[in-house]
Amino acid sequence: MAKRALITGITGQDGSYLAEFLLNRGYEVFGMTRRSSTNSFDRISHIIDRITLLSGDLLDEHSLATAIRESQPDEIYNLAAQSFVPTSWAQPVLTAEFTAVGVSRLLEAMRAVKPDARFYQASSSEMFGKVQETPQTERTPFYPRSPYGVSKVFGHWITVNYRESYGLFACSGILFNHESERRGLEFVSRKVTDGAARIKLGRATRLALGNLDAQRDWGYAPDYVRAMWLMLQHETPDDYVVATGVTRTVRELVAVAFEHVGLNWEKYVDVDPKLIRPAEVDVLVGDASKARRVLGWQPTVSFEAMIGKMVEADLARYTRNGP
Ligand code: NAP
Ligand code: GDD
Repeated sequence: MAKRALITGITGQDGSYLAEFLLNRGYEVFGMTRRSSTNSFDRISHIIDRITLLSGDLLDEHSLATAIRESQPDEIYNLAAQSFVPTSWAQPVLTAEFTAVGVSRLLEAMRAVKPDARFYQASSSEMFGKVQETPQTERTPFYPRSPYGVSKVFGHWITVNYRESYGLFACSGILFNHESERRGLEFVSRKVTDGAARIKLGRATRLALGNLDAQRDWGYAPDYVRAMWLMLQHETPDDYVVATGVTRTVRELVAVAFEHVGLNWEKYVDVDPKLIRPAEVDVLVGDASKARRVLGWQPTVSFEAMIGKMVEADLARYTRNGP
């Protein structure tokens, strides 16, 4: 019989790639979505006929229990969250409700309805924040620097706690930044590839950015959803860092994207102080040797190739849509 998976956050970047990945492995895929007056199915429209959508919200435990009861999943992937760091200063309580307490609600629902399911929690390198050692591993102490990071620390520890308290098969994947052609336009990688494409096509003349000195360990999202699945296939539940091991500045990211369209970024980019964060995560770089050793995971797409794909996709989108 086909395995069944329930994905929260299926309309997001990672949810859409994970759904595709699981369908290709013969899974029956269920996705939890929240009601909206406009639909947010752009990333899953090509697979919508092959998946089952169930309505639910991380704020509403009853709806989570119902989604689990109706899907009877072997695996639950909790990818839903308020995931944009700047919004977490503007809406700190809502971020905590979604990104922190939402994990408790889902774990409680799973414990009540399907305690033998395997559970994946989307934890984040933002938990390392003001880093206490470099590179960061599963044992590096957390020092989050935003309400989002603080909420993710709660989500991580409640996952570990339910594993230890109740013997649930619950894993926390500590994923470093990962991007793609489906990345939200507000995140820096996509903002830059979209900006370079628009400037190249004469649709914009300037691009405003914040801190160009911040450093991130950027990987490709389809590689990272494979790591999520591998964690739930292992014989024992555990926590893993998923990263490339290479860090770059935002400035380097901008240079690579603009070079791809044959432009000198320095002529087009402005630094807008309003985009500087109240507290910054200056530099992240992960050590994924545990995931490599135990899960046999490794990234397959280089930073340059990823940025190239993203710029090409943005150029194609604007060209397709006409002037
Ligand atoms: P994303 O594109 O922002 O997607 C977030 C998803 O969560 C969307 O499907 C959204 O639904 C859903 N959602 C938000 N609030 C919800 C609520 N109250 N109830 C139900 N669903 C809700 O994020 P992503 O980049 O795919 O990331 C997936 C997960 O990994 C997130 O938890 C993120 O924090 C974490 N993470 C991401 C990265 C990264 O670099 N991408 C790294 C580490 C960890 P709508 O479409 O309705 O808004
Ligand atoms: N978004 C954005 N917009 N970021 C900018 C800009 C800008 O105009 N200019 C500079 N940056 C810098 C930010 O200050 C930050 O240091 C870096 O670019 C990356 O920002 P984001 O792409 O917004 O990602 P993030 O690192 O804050 O968070 C992402 O990665 C986390 C994993 O470490 C999100 O996907 C989180 O959900 C995820 O957990």
